[in-house]
This record gives sequence, structure tokens and C-alpha cells, in this order.
Amino acid sequence: MTLTGKARLAGLVGWPVAHSRSPLIHNFWLQRYGIDGAYVPLAVDPTDLDTALRALPSLGFRGVNLTVPHKTAALECADEVSGIARAVGAANTLTVDENRRLIATNTDVFGLAESLRLSGLTEAPISTATILGAGGAARAAVAALAELGISTVRIANRTRARAEAIAGDLGAAFQGLRLEVVDWAARSEALCGAELLVNTTSLGMTGAPPLEIDLRPLPPTACVADIVYSTLETPLLAAARARGLVGVDGLGMLVHQARPGFQAWFGRDPLVTDELMLRLKSDLGV
Ligand code: ATR
Repeated sequence: MTLTGKARLAGLVGWPVAHSRSPLIHNFWLQRYGIDGAYVPLAVDPTDLDTALRALPSLGFRGVNLTVPHKTAALECADEVSGIARAVGAANTLTVDENRRLIATNTDVFGLAESLRLSGLTEAPISTATILGAGGAARAAVAALAELGISTVRIANRTRARAEAIAGDLGAAFQGLRLEVVDWAARSEALCGAELLVNTTSLGMTGAPPLEIDLRPLPPTACVADIVYSTLETPLLAAARARGLVGVDGLGMLVHQARPGFQAWFGRDPLVTDELMLRLKSDLGV
């Protein structure tokens, strides 16, 4: 599609950016809806982040997504930070408002919550979930589970201090959410009575060591989510499905996190269709 002088502009700021599938997702939607707009990858060195983001309003950008390593630094560059981005300590979406101010938010939280909702997870109320890992993805996962109304979240991480930091930070942000830190060695026991397991560690990805965990303590109605998308049928999800549990891969989170940004910049909530999912899978080679 030809871009006119009125084209709406958005993009992805990362360092590097070449690996990202966000341009594929947004440009698929732009084409599908015949919108005069473009979503471009922008490789920005961390030392230039503030300068680059400050220039967005002058360049006519409506906003950008942020990826590694900018998600935390972007909070400092923004004029306003949403409560959810502040709680998670990271922003993946910036919108330029009518006063040319940069508004930062975190839609990874929405992406995971929506992906779990659409898997049918929340049809019955869930009270307890277990999260493995304590990186940025685990923080977004805690916020997503809080948004889904889950009351107790257990966090197991190899480095216990990182799990404790999450419990401190997010426990303060989400009053009423009970966060329990569990030793990494006790991760299988931490599944007792949990209706949901979310793996946010890199274990089980291609090239990483396997995730060793015994799924037997999970109740038969439990759901297991793995947020990686470089491998869709991870050994964890295969083991879960073999036990008859619901498995949720990371592709849903990837695609649904893109929706709020698209809506803000291009004016409509885009549909996640089978065609888009197939295009993504083929591009990822999964
Ligand atoms: P992200 O921000 O994407 O979540 P990260 O901060 O690198 O990424 O986190 C990776 C997670 O995988 C961490 O929880 C890490 O555990 P540590 O906090 O102890 O580093 C976990 N992880 C990576 N390799 C691991 C391994 N071999 N065994 C157990 N956990 C591992």
C-alpha cells in the first residue's frame, strides 16, 4: 500500500530490533484494514534512547513499542507512566498524546491476561497460581494474574532474592494479592492445589536446558502456560497436554499485547485471526 503524506506512523524501538515480529503483526493489520500508516523497526542505541523518544512527536509518530533493552529505561523518558507500567517496572508501549507528551504503558500484562482468558482459563474462578522465574516477564505475569483476579501467586526462582524483590514490589502495587516466595528446589511442591502454572524462565527454549518439574501435584483441571514463542510445543506444554491439562503457548501473549498499541495509534481494535497466527507461525518456523 502506498503511504501518503498523511500516513499514521508508529514503530518499534529496540537494540537490536531485527528479531522482532511486531512489524509483521502491525503491518498485517494495517494492510487488512486498508489504513494509510506504517509500523517501522527503529534500532536505537541505549545511549540515544531519550533523544530518540523525545524526537517522536516532532517526527509525527503517534507512538512506539519498546523492546529489549529499553523497557525499563523508557519509564524515565516518559512524561506520564501508567499504574500498571509503574508496578511492573517496565513499559512496552508509548503513545504521543495531543499535547505531544509521551505516555508509557505496559500491554504485555494485557497480552498475557487476554491469552489466558481466551484459553478458557477464567471460566471457573482461580484462586492460586504458581510462576516460575523472576525476570521482567515474571513481573508482567504477576500483574496479569492480579488483573485476572487470582488471589494467591507463588513465585519460585533459582535466585530467591529476585523472587523476593518481585513479591515486595508487586505486593505493594496490588493490595489484596497474596505473593508467596518458594525455593526453586520446592517448585514441584509449589504446584499443589495451583490451578495455573506460568513458566517465565528461559528453560525449555531451544538451546536452553530443560525445565525439570513434576506436574503430578497439579489438579486435573489445571492450566499450564509457557510464555516463550520460539518453541511452541515446549517439553513443559507437551507434558501438560499428555496429562490432559490445558496448555497455553506464548504466541497469544505476543499477538494480544500488540492490540492496545494498534488501537491507540491506528484507531481500531484489530482482530487476531487464524490467518495472522499462521503467518506468525510460518515466520517463526514453529
Ligand atoms: P526476562 O526479563 O525475559 O524474564 P531474565 O531476567 O533473563 O529474562 O529471566 C530469566 C529467568 O530464567 C530468570 O528467572 C532466571 O533465573 P535467575 O533469576 O536465577 O537468573 C531463569 N533461568 C535462566 N536459566 C536458568 C537455569 N538454568 N535454571 C533455573 N532458572 C533459570
